[in-house]
Amino acid sequence: MLTKLEAARKSFQNEVKAATILNDVEQIKIKYLGRKGIVADFMKLIPALPGEQRATFGHQINNFKNEVAEVLEDCTRKLSLVSAPQVKKELFDITLPGKQIHSGRKHPLTQTIEEIKEVFARLGFDVAYGPEVELEYYNFDALNIPADHPSRTDFDTFYIKNDVLLRSQTSTVQIRIMEKQKPPVRIIAPGRVYRPDTVDARHSFMFHQVEGLLVDEGVSFADLKGVLSQFIKTYFGQDIRMRLRPSFFPFTEPSAEVDISCSICGGKGCGVCSYSGWVEILGAGMVDPNVFKAVHYDAEKYTGFAFGMGVERVTMLKYGIDDIRLFYENNMRFLSQF
Ligand code: PHE
Repeated sequence: MLTKLEAARKSFQNEVKAATILNDVEQIKIKYLGRKGIVADFMKLIPALPGEQRATFGHQINNFKNEVAEVLEDCTRKLSLVSAPQVKKELFDITLPGKQIHSGRKHPLTQTIEEIKEVFARLGFDVAYGPEVELEYYNFDALNIPADHPSRTDFDTFYIKNDVLLRSQTSTVQIRIMEKQKPPVRIIAPGRVYRPDTVDARHSFMFHQVEGLLVDEGVSFADLKGVLSQFIKTYFGQDIRMRLRPSFFPFTEPSAEVDISCSICGGKGCGVCSYSGWVEILGAGMVDPNVFKAVHYDAEKYTGFAFGMGVERVTMLKYGIDDIRLFYENNMRFLSQF
């Protein structure tokens, strides 16, 4: 009898050791302490025993019963601690490596615009903004662009209705500022512009420009050259050279296109500069007297210069980016390099 009880105690201990969840403990409890359980079975044997053994055996069974109850209670307490949520938190291993938090960063075009603003702020330029949905008057008429100019057609400009369009250049802001403000004027105007170009590696239906305008008494072409050269050397580097090529814009006279020595090959000639060693980065010139007339500035008293550059273009040249679409695709592998 006693060996049977000893065997039951052994297997009970093993089963308790193997228990990992509360349900295991519950099953063991039923098996040993239940109405038809092992302890109850032992009890039933007592009346059949000889007199003096009854008391001892009864005692032994009782001990076993108490032991089982105590061990199971202990076990229940331990297991319910582990599964309680606040304890789970407390058991958090502070030596584990933490979850990595990815910090955001500014888009490369935003970075470029900020750099440009900074260079011109040091030269005394304020920042001005204008609407992207614009009147034809500000995009063309006031800028001395004739009624039959090809850029006015809907091949080159997005029209919303008759005389309302998506601006195709930031030169609109020149007019809006000069209408409101008397000279001296010294502003740059960053922003989006829209043109119905077919999207490819170099074109997009939307891109960014920064316009510049300076008007005062006695402003000359030399001032324009000095300001641009200062910008180019700060943005691209001291060893970058600049050249001006005669050009034409309806709102400037004389006008120039501004090239820099190719920042990719250093001027030796490569695919980006079409083996010429030079790349165009902006258009510029002295404000046309007709533009001053439109904003009621005295063209005899004031002169000024204006320029406009493509933000995507200068960013691509600085970093050797060969496809404009990369700026708009939200590809983290590209964006996280800046
Ligand atoms: N607005 C012109 C363009 O979009 C650039 C420019 C601005 C040229 C100012 C001269 C003066 O091409």
